[in-house]
Amino acid sequence: MSAYGRMHRKEDARFIRGRGTYTDDVNLPGMLHGAVLRSPHAHAAIVSIDTSAAEAHPKVKAVITGETLAGLRLAWMPTLSGDTQAVLATDKVRFQGQEVAFVVAEDRYAARDALELIDVEYEPLPAVVDARRALDEDAPVIRDDLDGKADNHIFDWQAGDKAATDAIFERAQVTVAQDMLYPRVHPAPLETCGAVADFDRVTGKLTVWCPTQAPHAHRTLYAMVAGIPEHKIRVISPDIGGGFGNKVGIYPGYVCAIVGSIVTGRPVKWMEDRSENLMSTSFARDYHMHGEIAATRDGRIQAIRVKVLADHGAFNGTAQPTKYPAGFFHVFTGSYDLAAAHCEVTGVYTNKAPGGVAYACSFRVTEAVYLVERLVDVLAVELDMDPAELRMRNLLKPGQFPYTSPTGWEYDSGDYPRTLRLALDMAGYDKLRAEQADRRAAGGPLMGIGISFFTEAVGAGPRKHMDILGLGMADGAELRVHPTGKAVLRVSCQSQGQGHETTFAQIVAQELGMSPGDVEVVHGDTDQTPFGLGTYGSRSTPVSGAATAMVARKVRERARVVASAMLEASPEDLEWAEGRWAVRGDPATGKSMAEIALAAHSGLELPEGVEGHLDAVCVYNPPNLTYPFGAYVCVVDVDPGTGQVKVRRFVAVDDCGVRINPMIVEGQIHGGLADGVGMALMQLMAFDEEGNHLGASFMDYLLPTAVECPSWELGETVTPSPHHPIGAKGVGESATVGSPAAVVNAVVDALRPYGVRHADMPLTPANVWLTIQGRPFRT
Ligand code: CDP
Repeated sequence: MSAYGRMHRKEDARFIRGRGTYTDDVNLPGMLHGAVLRSPHAHAAIVSIDTSAAEAHPKVKAVITGETLAGLRLAWMPTLSGDTQAVLATDKVRFQGQEVAFVVAEDRYAARDALELIDVEYEPLPAVVDARRALDEDAPVIRDDLDGKADNHIFDWQAGDKAATDAIFERAQVTVAQDMLYPRVHPAPLETCGAVADFDRVTGKLTVWCPTQAPHAHRTLYAMVAGIPEHKIRVISPDIGGGFGNKVGIYPGYVCAIVGSIVTGRPVKWMEDRSENLMSTSFARDYHMHGEIAATRDGRIQAIRVKVLADHGAFNGTAQPTKYPAGFFHVFTGSYDLAAAHCEVTGVYTNKAPGGVAYACSFRVTEAVYLVERLVDVLAVELDMDPAELRMRNLLKPGQFPYTSPTGWEYDSGDYPRTLRLALDMAGYDKLRAEQADRRAAGGPLMGIGISFFTEAVGAGPRKHMDILGLGMADGAELRVHPTGKAVLRVSCQSQGQGHETTFAQIVAQELGMSPGDVEVVHGDTDQTPFGLGTYGSRSTPVSGAATAMVARKVRERARVVASAMLEASPEDLEWAEGRWAVRGDPATGKSMAEIALAAHSGLELPEGVEGHLDAVCVYNPPNLTYPFGAYVCVVDVDPGTGQVKVRRFVAVDDCGVRINPMIVEGQIHGGLADGVGMALMQLMAFDEEGNHLGASFMDYLLPTAVECPSWELGETVTPSPHHPIGAKGVGESATVGSPAAVVNAVVDALRPYGVRHADMPLTPANVWLTIQGRPFRT
């Protein structure tokens, strides 16, 4: 019997009882509390900081400033992109909400009160808020801390073949171009960031509890930056209330909590509040894109070229493999069979929070999918062709896989037309178009139908191509089967709500013929798990999940030798059948994993060189990424009087290869679709001209709720990944990646009677209404 299937999540036993243990639940004897003083200015020189009144507060134990940290050579820290970021500002502040000082006090309230007693004198400087102004001659230089830096330029990067692409554009029968913005949004996890740091002065051991998506990478970075030996550092990532990329990097607050504990000799807890999370932790997107598409008049797409201006905020804190400053954006050719493609990306500094994280996506795949799916719709309007038909005409065909894209990706497997056809059938596409035609003929009401087809590149990644700060992206797994046949799996990835304790147990159970209930999954503790780069970019199943299958297979092979001793047969004469090792052709002799485990720990004489016990370790270096894909159809109704958009229906057909737990997969897709509706219709990290943050609460920065979401209609196709040991592809972020384009395409389609060809997200009622009036909103 297969261990895969719709098993209820093991972790829900504690979550639905409110018995999870989050970082803020960690309380240690003698623990102190930290609070961060933040800059009110987006750009200002620091003239002086007077901490004397705060230090005199009876409950304050320490006040740490940039100067204190400079003495420890910790005032600056490396970012995941190899830039530097101020831990506490020394020279000037570069975005509103930047960390300026850290107070450690007996309780959280005293720490916050004492922040008011710190007197900082600022000299305000002009701020650069709009990325399009960042490279102007007269733009103030944000990063004058960097040697010789005289502008706000970070990088220029390109991919694809420029000459071949330009040549196609020159000859093309039809070309269209569109400017579009993927606005700055925020992952906004339910649990904010924070840390409990405990430095033991006697043993020299530092323990940090923190909701990090990458505990091992954090430990290595702490060792490199703080000079504490790595084996003396333990990072524990307990239950996490959502990550979505927000919890990949190291934030100044973590470093301050550690320094606070070193300075005071007591544990220090620091938990940020919602506004701090929204203002200062990693944002996502903020890509100003100009895309062009070249095609024949009968709708053969030939080439795409793209220019992007990427706003990286005040410090380049984006997270992606080193070789790719624009992440995996160059997968923008999407799901189509193109002759050539080229993109250029320029990164700039602005006076906004640093980041550019992969918010529920594999390193800028979301921006790429949005770009191509909007461009295809713009082309469909130009050609007066149905967008479904245009896509169908250009999708890669099953026989083309493995397929090498014009920008160098090797897509592993796919049957795209089948998936699109299923989505269209589920939606009743022809009937919907007929309904729309009737409505248009009758002069209203407005309805729109939007399609998107996406291909993701997830499971970073092959070590020879991908590393973060020099750390290769392979993942470890350790598996031990105890004498009574119960197993413990230790993995380096870290669940933030994705249900790894269930699905990874299912993988082991499937490989070893056990029940998933007999497999315990340990994760999120560097002292207890093997090294690996963590969970983001939907890499857990493609990499750690593969490591899990491989380590289980190693154990299964060891079990074979033990079984051969039990059955007095040669290992070659055994076969694995129905979850047991049996003599070939004689299933009745089969030995279960529990029987074999007991024998492996017993006095049974084992063949020469076999050590006994039943365990194994594995490091999995993925040969390639996995390429999940899907077809989405969104139907919206739009009220032209108010600009209100209602998502009437949403059909999502996803193909993530073999599904370990279809129920968990569907839950992941539901969450991602809600995310997509949120980004398309309501989310924007807005700033005024002086760089004041206008979205620092959930009253201003809106999250989608059940009210805005329809009842999702899900379908699936299964095209296994040929190189993944169980044929699975990642899925955690597919829906966030694919859905915004479907919603926007639907709204733009609804507005077609007004001659609208494009409108930037978020399609708020005000924006839609202004778009109808011909005055679209621009940030
Ligand atoms: O890295 P992250 O866990 O965010 O993403 P993922 O690897 O796509 O997995 C999300 C959840 O869906 C995990 O519990 C997976 O094991 C599960 N999953 C599955 O059951 N089948 C798949 N083909 C892919 C993921």
